[in-house]
Amino acid sequence: MKYPLIRGRRLRSSAGMRRLVGDVRVCKDDLVMPVFVRAGKKICREITSMPGIFQFSPDTLLKEIEKISDLGISAVIVFGIPEEKDEQGSGAFSEQGIVQQAVRLIKADFPDLLVITDVCLCEYTSHGHCGVLTEDREVDNDATLELLSKTALSQAESGADMVAPSSMMDGQVKAIRSGLDSSGFARIPIMSYSAKYASAFYGPFRDAADSAPGFGDRRSYQMDCCRTREGLREIELDLKEGADIVMVKPALCYLDIISQARQKFSAPLAAYNVSGEYSMVKAAGAKGWIPEQIMVQEILCGLKRAGADILITYHAKEAALWLQQGNW
Ligand code: PBG
Repeated sequence: MKYPLIRGRRLRSSAGMRRLVGDVRVCKDDLVMPVFVRAGKKICREITSMPGIFQFSPDTLLKEIEKISDLGISAVIVFGIPEEKDEQGSGAFSEQGIVQQAVRLIKADFPDLLVITDVCLCEYTSHGHCGVLTEDREVDNDATLELLSKTALSQAESGADMVAPSSMMDGQVKAIRSGLDSSGFARIPIMSYSAKYASAFYGPFRDAADSAPGFGDRRSYQMDCCRTREGLREIELDLKEGADIVMVKPALCYLDIISQARQKFSAPLAAYNVSGEYSMVKAAGAKGWIPEQIMVQEILCGLKRAGADILITYHAKEAALWLQQGNW
């Protein structure tokens, strides 16, 4: 924008003027950085489809957390890749689980960093689905609820500041809320992945978290992209079940859902700028087809403009650095 318009008059443009008249701002406090923790030692493995994003083992993780914290980012969301998987996804709720270990380590050294944990079974089940299966290999919603509740509780016991259920099982927020409440964790908030659409844009994450379904897909429990009202209804139901923060995911194809949710509900709203959205930007940037920094800034600004309060994004570190440098 060369000449910002104020009351119909064209003013001389400058970065300072643009900042002054802008009504949407991205700031460090909006950002949540996802981190992947993998069982093992000395691991610092870049994810091929997500340049700049790594899997860390517990012994290498804290260096990364220090970088994140030094950049002034105040929250991370932790995903785990366990050593072994089974039908039940028991690594998700084990006291010695990879996420539980990581949370204890992070909170010991960075007590002020807000640590959010993803509550799902897909990284832990041998079949890669987000819940346990019935005999005819379908996801068993109700049997899964108990395991999700156990998972959230064990994460809270490890020191997680907030839990984020992402499996899209019906009733998951209620089950987790009552599990936390009855075990002395009534003050741990829930950020629910409420409007989570089935999406091709999760592809790179499934490499990163080693969680691609072994058969079928997630369409029976994630939403179809053609449905607007259902997304809003999912948010409403989650709020009724006790969610403190609601989320729309992915972000870019769903800006309308973010915007409508912002109008309709007063709860804090998170947008998850997912793995595939990151990969696209990185790929086009690396090819020199589109300038990367400007793309990222435009995307994050767009999410704020649509109405998101919280931006979960793999670009968080870069964005925080530009903000720190005054290079936005
Ligand atoms: C776990 C989960 C997924 C993502 C976040 N939590 C994967 C999925 O639902 O398939 C995706 C995040 C991303 O793509 O960055 N269920």
